[in-house]
Amino acid sequence: MHTKGILINGLKKRYGKGETAVDALRGVDMRVAPGEVVGLIGPSGSGKSTLLKCLGAVIEPTAGRMMLGEDIIYDDGWKIPDLRALRRDKIGFVFQAPYLIPFLDVTDNVALLPMLAGRPNNEARQRALELLKALDVAHRARAMPSHLSGAAKSCHCQGTGKQAAGDPRGRADRAA
Ligand SMILES: Nc1ncnc2c1ncn2[C@@H]1O[C@H](COP(=O)(O)OP(=O)(O)OP(=O)(O)O)[C@@H](O)[C@H]1O
Ligand SMILES: [Mg+2]
Repeated sequence: MHTKGILINGLKKRYGKGETAVDALRGVDMRVAPGEVVGLIGPSGSGKSTLLKCLGAVIEPTAGRMMLGEDIIYDDGWKIPDLRALRRDKIGFVFQAPYLIPFLDVTDNVALLPMLAGRPNNEARQRALELLKALDVAHRARAMPSHLSGAAKSCHCQGTGKQAAGDPRGRADRAA
């Protein structure tokens, strides 16, 4: 069967064994169309993170089926030999905490994954700049992550007064 987007059928995940086993996913069916934005809502412990980790090939489900694009990635076992390549090429995570590499500037942090995937450095950096522009943070392209934190702190401390006064760093602080 060919599909686009994400298709999940009967996905199960059991943590542990025996009396202490936890059935975090008990047969999840889900379909996400290409370009569709989906929010997972549920009480704490209902299995949201477990589902995302299975779909992101971070942990192995116990049973069921997952398709990504036209590939069956899991069918009662992984069907993709190189899960690292799958994660690198097809899956993106945006974490609540920003895991930036401290000794690379903003552009290189964004360009790093395409570089690791074999894209030429110039092309990866060019694409990174386009993304930064699209997100309206291109003015911080050469900043180091520690300086972004500084901008955020500065924003908290000095607040709106500085922006009202037209401080040239106001825009950066708002973005931070
Ligand atoms: N590594 C693990 N080992 C054992 N049980 C786990 C593990 N990770 C999660 N669980 C259990 O699986 C169930 C689902 O947990 P999960 O983290 O997926 O829930 P969640 O919906 O993301 O919750 P929250 O909203 O609190 O983040 C919970 O009962 C949790 O205790
Ligand atoms: Mg969670």
